[in-house]
Amino acid sequence: MDTAEKQPIPEQAQRRRLDGRRALVTGGASGIGRATAMRMAAEGAAVVVNYIGSAEPAQLVGELERDGGRALEVEADVSVEEQVVEMFRRARAELGGPVDLLVNNAGIEKPFPLTEMPLAEWRRVLDVNVTGAFLCAREAARSLIAEGTPGVIVNVSSVHEVIPWPRFSHYCASKGAMKLFGQTIARELAPHRIRVVMVAPGAIVTPINKELIGDPEKRRQVEEQIPWGRMGESEEVAAAIAWVAGPDAEYVTGSTIFVDGGMTLYPRFV
Ligand code: BGC
Repeated sequence: MDTAEKQPIPEQAQRRRLDGRRALVTGGASGIGRATAMRMAAEGAAVVVNYIGSAEPAQLVGELERDGGRALEVEADVSVEEQVVEMFRRARAELGGPVDLLVNNAGIEKPFPLTEMPLAEWRRVLDVNVTGAFLCAREAARSLIAEGTPGVIVNVSSVHEVIPWPRFSHYCASKGAMKLFGQTIARELAPHRIRVVMVAPGAIVTPINKELIGDPEKRRQVEEQIPWGRMGESEEVAAAIAWVAGPDAEYVTGSTIFVDGGMTLYPRFV
């Protein structure tokens, strides 16, 4: 990305559209999750950074709190019910109210052709990407409804909620599921003034893509699939999430916002 094009935190962030909000970002220590945690904090939210098995969060929490914000790190495997329940309990206790902005961002992928897909890999991807989103959404919704507080759930899905991707059948199944799960609960939760929105990134420069980023030929091939001509940055996805989460998006629920440089426009089609 041209540095000239890349803005650190755009002007509207200074409006602090998320003042007073309590956010929880799963997989918040790296990539899109990390950029989202930083953006939420910059816009005034208190932020819970969920992570698993990484040393990065402590430093991130320090950064988030540097400008007077409130942040905490909570290690939890989002696919394990007791850990998720405990994470939300802690978040509520330490932030003084229910999480009203959940970003279901934790996700994993590892390619296998169908015929070589181990059941354990299939299950793990579905467990983290979909069951994790379900468990976190359920905890968030339970306390929001109990307290009559409005809120927003953002499912970070993917262009692969619509684009089939050979060798990633588990991942595509998980992202398609995340979308229809999100749409269904958007209907259930609307009467409680809880919105549910999918933000679907395309090819973004993040650790999940490190193999691709390090291989110029592979990267060129991917960039050919993007009308905008380049991979995206985590901050660009975070900006969409911040908008979706804020008051300007009051009337947006159940939809998917693609942040993909046009990848879903089938650029190779004739
Ligand atoms: C995946 C990336 C991939 C991108 C576009 C994302 O959901 O995590 O690995 O590059 O979709 O295919």
